[in-house]
Amino acid sequence: MQDAHDLGLVIAAGVSIIVLETYDEPRALGLLMRVARQRDTALYQWTITDGLKRAGFGLQVEEPNKYAEPGELLDQLKKRAEPGIYALCDIHPWLGEDHPTQVRQLKDIALRNNNGAVTLVLVSHRFKLPEELARLSARFEVSLPNKAQIMKVVKDEAKNWAKENGSTRVKTDNETLEQLVSGLRGLSYGEVRRLARSAIVDDGAITEADLPEINQAKFRLMDMDGVLTFDYSGEQLDKVGGMENLKEWLTKRQSVFTGSVKGLDAPKGILLLGVQGGGKSLAAKAIAGAWSVPLLKLDMGALYNKFYGETERNLRESLSLAEKMSPCVLWLDEIEKGLGGDDNDSGTAGRVLGTLLTWMAERKDGVFMVATSNDISRLPPELVRKGRFDELFFVDLPNADARQVIFSIHLNNRELDVEQFSIAELVAASEGFSGAEIEQAIVSGLYSALARNTDVTTELLLDEIISTSPLSVVMAGRIAQLRDWAQQRNVVIA
Ligand SMILES: Nc1ncnc2c1ncn2[C@@H]1O[C@H](COP(=O)(O)OP(=O)(O)OP(=O)(O)O)[C@@H](O)[C@H]1O
Ligand SMILES: [Mg+2]
Repeated sequence: MQDAHDLGLVIAAGVSIIVLETYDEPRALGLLMRVARQRDTALYQWTITDGLKRAGFGLQVEEPNKYAEPGELLDQLKKRAEPGIYALCDIHPWLGEDHPTQVRQLKDIALRNNNGAVTLVLVSHRFKLPEELARLSARFEVSLPNKAQIMKVVKDEAKNWAKENGSTRVKTDNETLEQLVSGLRGLSYGEVRRLARSAIVDDGAITEADLPEINQAKFRLMDMDGVLTFDYSGEQLDKVGGMENLKEWLTKRQSVFTGSVKGLDAPKGILLLGVQGGGKSLAAKAIAGAWSVPLLKLDMGALYNKFYGETERNLRESLSLAEKMSPCVLWLDEIEKGLGGDDNDSGTAGRVLGTLLTWMAERKDGVFMVATSNDISRLPPELVRKGRFDELFFVDLPNADARQVIFSIHLNNRELDVEQFSIAELVAASEGFSGAEIEQAIVSGLYSALARNTDVTTELLLDEIISTSPLSVVMAGRIAQLRDWAQQRNVVIA
């Protein structure tokens, strides 16, 4: 146990206040017990509900609720404390700015106790120590289980379940098990155990259907509401019409990204540039669906929201959360909005870009970044320089083949029978339409049919198409500009 060894060293060094941040209190106490035994000293535990007691003895001989009140406890520890390790669980509410007496009491203990016989370990899920105590204390982090350890916990839970239910074994397959284990990385032992159990109990099996739920539960545990959101849409690539080159590129790399093929550089990210309504956002979502990994959307707007605090810290925390959720797709939709360097706030935008570029250069495998943009004029040149992304893809208006697929997809989505329509006519009439405009024509067609109390027909859809002025006409200049830009650079047609 590396943790016990390391913590033992910190205590041996004579540090008298140790902050131990963890959600996994039982494990922290187990660790402290081990250290206490190694050092041949006693372990005491304090909580507001039970007061101070000596840990590790089954029967409580001491009087209940002794020194339950934090001031009283600290007073006692200051005046006369038996040698030992004192785990003070959740004492953080009484050590904030508005509790100067307790802060000073703690400082007195730390200053006085220079022979190192008494160590206070402050165990809380989160702890910001007041400044006056910062230099007198050390922080200790309990390490999280690695893959092999997670696998062991999952297998233990499976065995327990089988035993409790008189069943021979929990059903699963290696690939799903691997995916579950990699999804549980970044969590504590207790959380891993709980989530593994919840995957098993519903049906006595670990199946692919358990994975999305596990990922959501994990995201909730990590809790970074606001800036980073978990996208539940679960789109698949077959819901995206066209973009054959992009699909091929992705299919080739899937096994490397998910780790089933080793030895090749893992894909790290792509930028999808292109016309409005061309399906960039849809494609970004479908990549996560196709690879069966969580999709995390970074809201570039919320990054700047004062309500959520400091912009760059938001970004750094979001990126680090994405790493903890890996393997995952990190989606930066309309990236230019966060990096475009608004005139009034170019300083922050520049630093945000810097933070992002640094992360992109240093990041480990497992987070596949998909950025989208429809406005190249606002994209910082540094971002599109070669080597930042694995590839830049240009999403143009769909050609006839792609439009055919898009019509089928959206007719199907609305439970209309594709066979009943003359797709060839629709495809011919919708030259210059984006995917979004095709979808819109079908939706309007449905409304018109409803109003006229008739079925949706090819003629009705043709009417809708003819009465639409597509963006390719309205914004012909801008689209030409986008195409030019893409042609002059090393951009692949999606
Ligand atoms: N290639 C496509 N295949 C299927 N559906 C599409 C396609 N393109 C667009 N759509 C439909 O149009 C909707 C809007 O497209 P989407 O938001 O993905 O476009 P976008 O390229 O991200 O546009 P913007 O630049 O405005 O963000 C999609 O949710 C989908 O229903
Ligand atoms: Mg979009």
